[in-house]
Amino acid sequence: MDFSGKKVLVTGATRGIGRATTAAFLDAGASVAVNGRSQASVDRLMSELGGDRLVAAPGDLSEVAVCEAVAKTAVDGLGGLDYLVNNAGIYVVASMEDSDEAAWDSLNDINVKATFFLSRALLPALRASKGAIVNLGSSAGLAGSAQTTIYCATKGAVVNLTRAMAQELAPDIRVNGVCPAVIATEMGGQNLDIFGKPGATMDDLKEWYPLDRIGTPEEVAQGILFLCSPAAAFMTGSMLAMDGGALSSDSS
Ligand SMILES: NC(=O)c1ccc[n+]([C@@H]2O[C@H](COP(=O)([O-])OP(=O)(O)OC[C@H]3O[C@@H](n4cnc5c(N)ncnc54)[C@H](O)[C@@H]3O)[C@@H](O)[C@H]2O)c1
Repeated sequence: MDFSGKKVLVTGATRGIGRATTAAFLDAGASVAVNGRSQASVDRLMSELGGDRLVAAPGDLSEVAVCEAVAKTAVDGLGGLDYLVNNAGIYVVASMEDSDEAAWDSLNDINVKATFFLSRALLPALRASKGAIVNLGSSAGLAGSAQTTIYCATKGAVVNLTRAMAQELAPDIRVNGVCPAVIATEMGGQNLDIFGKPGATMDDLKEWYPLDRIGTPEEVAQGILFLCSPAAAFMTGSMLAMDGGALSSDSS
């Protein structure tokens, strides 16, 4: 895929899927504004990835004012915007009894509210470029699972937010999402608490998946680039499952 000359904002770019997506867009020729919670984490990413096609856009997106400031920094720094990847998110493993209002608010603020308000702030730039948005849903937004009820609620919201945004923003802006199952990142590692077998490693989680392994951040990045690319020009409102076959299994 060739993204030469294209301008992208990736949120939560400092590690995991966001970092892999940033690297993939850079490899494909794009310029990328990179967001992370702190200036230090963004500075570290930029020095590690290098090159002159990165723009720093740090800020905690759980506040609407910060979403608007990050949007401006990205558009000013890049000189416009073609693609927004709403990747920043958090995951909490806890029973309903152990889930309090603070957890509800923090999960919803970054997983749902930031996706809406950052997208809203970038509509003028994305309308001007006839661009695209990719939201990070989850297999947990397509099916429920125990110990992650609030997270499942937020990702279910992202799935239907994606569909609704696609309806409202067509034909100017395409809006799609990816729904990964467990991916080998820090967040993915939190699933070992659900797996519940002492001494288990990430690799042991493969028993959940017909393809007999968990996914990689680089694979999710390729799905995100595909949804931005001209190859997906007739797609909007779609959620691309990247789940090793789990959701199509009769045991899921
Ligand atoms: N890893 C998985 O198994 C998995 C599966 C399905 C969906 N996802 C989704 O993919 C996305 C990325 O997940 P990951 O595994 O790379 O996670 P990660 O924890 O490795 O990275 C998350 C990134 O989001 C950033 N972030 C968190 N809160 C933020 C905030 N308030 N403001 C700005 N940035 C913030 C973090 O700094 C980090 O850069 C998330 O939306 C997640 O829900 C992940």
